[in-house]
Amino acid sequence: MSLSDIGPVVLIGAGKMGLALARGWIAGGLPPDRLVLCDPKPADATVAFAAEHSVRLMEKPEGVLVHVLVLAVKPQMIHEVMAQVAPAVGAQTLVVSIAAGISLAAISTSLGTRRVVRTMPNTPAQVGKGISGAVGLAVTDRDRATTDALLGAAGQVIWFDDESKIDGVTSVSGSGPAYVFYMVEALAQAAEKQGFNPEQAMQLARATIIGAAGLLEAEPDTSASQLRINVTSPKGTTAAALEVLMAEDGLAPLLDRAVTAARLRSEELGKA
Ligand SMILES: NC(=O)c1ccc[n+]([C@@H]2O[C@H](COP(=O)([O-])OP(=O)(O)OC[C@H]3O[C@@H](n4cnc5c(N)ncnc54)[C@H](OP(=O)(O)O)[C@@H]3O)[C@@H](O)[C@H]2O)c1
Repeated sequence: MSLSDIGPVVLIGAGKMGLALARGWIAGGLPPDRLVLCDPKPADATVAFAAEHSVRLMEKPEGVLVHVLVLAVKPQMIHEVMAQVAPAVGAQTLVVSIAAGISLAAISTSLGTRRVVRTMPNTPAQVGKGISGAVGLAVTDRDRATTDALLGAAGQVIWFDDESKIDGVTSVSGSGPAYVFYMVEALAQAAEKQGFNPEQAMQLARATIIGAAGLLEAEPDTSASQLRINVTSPKGTTAAALEVLMAEDGLAPLLDRAVTAARLRSEELGKA
């Protein structure tokens, strides 16, 4: 299914993530007259996007036929928002939520439908290189295809049968971009200790991470381990560094602790 077969899509909450998705949908071929943005206090970027593409922007989905309702508001306000939009949800409506920690059961109960998909995208969606985990309640193959088309505009999609996997997705790919940004910061700090000025250090660190990511992307059939081995000559400089990073108390156990902390927090937020 392609985006041109979908709609009307009503996006509730056109903030950072919602607007990134909406940009991807329009760029990917969703007809602008089949998209409605709902946001009571839209940011300037949202107003400009709606004007540029002649997309309807309204406070709430009143008098709109909703085939797909995408929930992209902050988890703290989602219950209030779901109560507001529930009248617009009917048998024809597929609900897709990107709200962190809000369960399928909670969405289903609030909106009175079991056609619900819960997903966790990540911020590289803004440049079409995101990855989303998705889990459905009582969704048809067509609902899955619709979700794939919508989330596919922002990057890759992985489906799971078990809702608890979404907490794992949050801890790996949802929060993961921040880990990589921090890696850039840490590498730049290490570069400064080698005598580079802050600007040079940051330039070296940024370009290294972007370049390594570019290689991963350019060689999808080569494993990350192989790419690492390819740049590591025996007893060379990279090998010396990797001995530190791959030590028993090196990067792997540290990342394991970080990811576990994120998953536990995600589970905790889901119960709040
Ligand atoms: N950003 C991420 O990396 C990321 C990744 C995965 C999932 N998510 C999930 O995506 C959701 C949105 O996050 P975000 O970062 O995009 O937040 P955000 O920028 O704050 O966007 C939420 C938007 O919803 C608007 N809103 C508030 N009340 C509303 C209402 N009654 N009806 C319609 N819209 C309303 C907000 O307006 P005001 O600003 O005026 O309140 C804001 O524009 C969250 O649930 C988050 O867990 C985010």
